[in-house]
Amino acid sequence: AYAPYSQFKVGAALKLVNEDTIIPGCNVENASYGATICAERSAIVSACTQFGKLQIAYVVIVTGESKPTVPCALCLQVIAEFSTPDTLVFSGNEAGITAKWHFKELLPKPFTSFE
Ligand code: THU
Repeated sequence: AYAPYSQFKVGAALKLVNEDTIIPGCNVENASYGATICAERSAIVSACTQFGKLQIAYVVIVTGESKPTVPCALCLQVIAEFSTPDTLVFSGNEAGITAKWHFKELLPKPFTSFE
């Protein structure tokens, strides 16, 4: 991760449906703080770059914290684009996974333009 401002390093990994490769991402901070991109969205951007279309099977988030990190609301909205309500989100640290949610628990009603 590149987190010189917050020192809060986040890694994200995506398992895609029908693809064996794991797509990694990390937070990339910026001197203009609002230009920072979170780990989850950077992984999704990378997956789009590689595959164009994608369906997320599950997401894993890793930080250096003992408490599991929940994706921010912006990331949840972006994850929604490529997930189903039952897509799994795991969170933890280098010692292991400490939380597991269905996507619908974290964002029950994502914005969709045509529904
Ligand atoms: N961050 C992520 O990368 N993912 C999250 O789920 C929460 C927050 C990053 C953004 C910023 O670089 C740092 O963590 C502190 O908010």
